[in-house]
Amino acid sequence: MGLITEDCIHRVIEANDIAAVVESYNIPLKRAGSNFQALCPFHNEKTPSFNVNSRLQIFKCFGCGVAGNVVKFVQLIERLEYPEAIEVLAQRSGIQVERDGGGGASRETRDTEKSKSLLWANSLALSYFEQSLWDEREGRRAREYLLGRGFTKETIQSWRLGWAPESWDGLLETLVKQAGEHKRDMAQEVGLLASVLRYNEEKNRYYDAFRGRVMFPIFDAQHRPIGFGGRVFEEKPDSGGKYINSAEGKLFEKRKILYGLNFAAKEIGLSRAAIIVEGYTDTIMCHQYGLRNVVATLGTALTKDHIGRLRRYVQQGGRVLALFDSDSAGEKATERAVELFMEEDVPLEIARGLAVKDACEFLPKYGVEAFREELGKAQDSFSFTLGRTVGKISPSDINGKTAAVEKMMQLVNLSPNRIKREMMRKQVASASGLPEEALPRQQPKAAPGTRPVAPREQEKRGLNSGGVTVPSVLHNRFLARKKKEMRLIQFMLEKPDWSALIADQVPPDEFHDHSCAEIAGIVRDLWNAGKRPDPAEIVNVATEEDSSTVIADLFMDGKGGPPLSDEELKGLLSGSEKERLEEARQGYMDDLREAGRRGDAEAVETLSVKISETVKAIDKLKTGGKPQL
Ligand code: UTP
Ligand code: MN
Repeated sequence: MGLITEDCIHRVIEANDIAAVVESYNIPLKRAGSNFQALCPFHNEKTPSFNVNSRLQIFKCFGCGVAGNVVKFVQLIERLEYPEAIEVLAQRSGIQVERDGGGGASRETRDTEKSKSLLWANSLALSYFEQSLWDEREGRRAREYLLGRGFTKETIQSWRLGWAPESWDGLLETLVKQAGEHKRDMAQEVGLLASVLRYNEEKNRYYDAFRGRVMFPIFDAQHRPIGFGGRVFEEKPDSGGKYINSAEGKLFEKRKILYGLNFAAKEIGLSRAAIIVEGYTDTIMCHQYGLRNVVATLGTALTKDHIGRLRRYVQQGGRVLALFDSDSAGEKATERAVELFMEEDVPLEIARGLAVKDACEFLPKYGVEAFREELGKAQDSFSFTLGRTVGKISPSDINGKTAAVEKMMQLVNLSPNRIKREMMRKQVASASGLPEEALPRQQPKAAPGTRPVAPREQEKRGLNSGGVTVPSVLHNRFLARKKKEMRLIQFMLEKPDWSALIADQVPPDEFHDHSCAEIAGIVRDLWNAGKRPDPAEIVNVATEEDSSTVIADLFMDGKGGPPLSDEELKGLLSGSEKERLEEARQGYMDDLREAGRRGDAEAVETLSVKISETVKAIDKLKTGGKPQL
């Protein structure tokens, strides 16, 4: 696939109003002067410091410093790479994503249109199920059932639980009434309707797929219903599975979905810890008891997609804890999770041994304190497994022990991380009383996904980042320089004279920060074209990924630093000239050393002259020579 075209990126950004996008993530905005404000979704706070400027289409949080445009916002809130965020926004606004090299465009349009229709069918069904649940008569038994299990009314409402009546055509009629017959196919495609063709009839006969079930809607990050789980509510022999789900498709891919992530994302990001449970009801109950970083898989085994997703939220050094049911299915799920996390080199902790079936049953019975205590007993997944295999076998059971050691070594060898493999080997050796050399050593096969994962760019620079991987001295110098460059841009924005002077002495392409370089160039060009640089216009023209962040920092900071003066500008310019000369001198010195090694007398001569000239220029600057204002 090629890169998304710049034209397409612009159209996507234009089509997505930042305030509307922010609000679609359940972040209500309040007007405050020329901005909108909200509690920041990226850090904990009591008074709002997250600001959205509609005119400039940018946001900035004065608490934690995040800033940018609508794409940046989606990147941060959904933990996506730039092109992925563009795709989310394109989808949201019904724009087809165009890539260099073209191709497949018409199919993508259809896909976008279609997933809109599919979502629409689900939304309509969601309202129908909700209305049925809250309908005085129709939903009475289902409400009693849910309340009886310990869910509060508020919980039922905020998770938008519903009831699918015992009817063959309740949803069908609602759909047809609201949208006409042609939408039935969409509803069938997502699994809300089913159909039969009888031998004496010409057309498919449609009917409701979910009947007599308590409905659990499943949302995407923007809280849009992408599917449902429907639970039988009075267990009847002929009622099919305990749960049935929406049809697997582009909208609803179980292997990617974590139930509750839309509600849990913020807390997982802030606490950098996630808890995975097995079921819908476990998730909801945990949230009701204040554990807001809980998600569940949809009855499927964990997948790499799930782990990848979680890793983006907890980031390197974060914690993932699994609490599966206390039955044999839960045990299997745990074993599988341990292997997969090992393969993905993401640490996992296992909490086991609830006295009852699952979290949903435990919490109302024993309370949240007891529950936290159980979580506190969680063990690192490797030690956990070691204890349950090698640790459980009597020293005289040679066959049993051999099998256990082999099993452990298989697990160890799944890890792509050599250091961890070595440490785990030592532990297996000590637990089994075998010398390390006796343990099978086998390189893990280099299957895709088993290589060590480089920390993502976002994690390196990012939000809540635990380990800053950039050496901090370099990083600080980089920040200080960027700060100066941003100050220069402020001068450029103020007066055409200042802009011309700066562009002359520090041409935009000599700015070190890419975004600053781009913006300085835009500002210079606007003045040159006889226009006063308007932030909104700059936002529109800039294409560097982080330019929107710089712009937000420049324009949303009410005060914008001390008043601008000729004096300060002079200092800034001579400072950057000095820096440039220093760098040049450093370069000449390196060359000189190299020339000396080669024995190139001529080069040594020229370089020495250059160095002394540079040093003179630096001295002159120190005593206040140029630049002139
Ligand atoms: P459980 O059987 O543990 O159900 O299945 P539960 O979530 O605890 O529900 P309650 O508390 O008994 O009402 C765990 C998960 O497995 C999936 C569902 O996602 C369920 O939440 N599942 C289970 C299915 O998809 N189909 C089934 O038939 C059973
Ligand atoms: Mn369960």
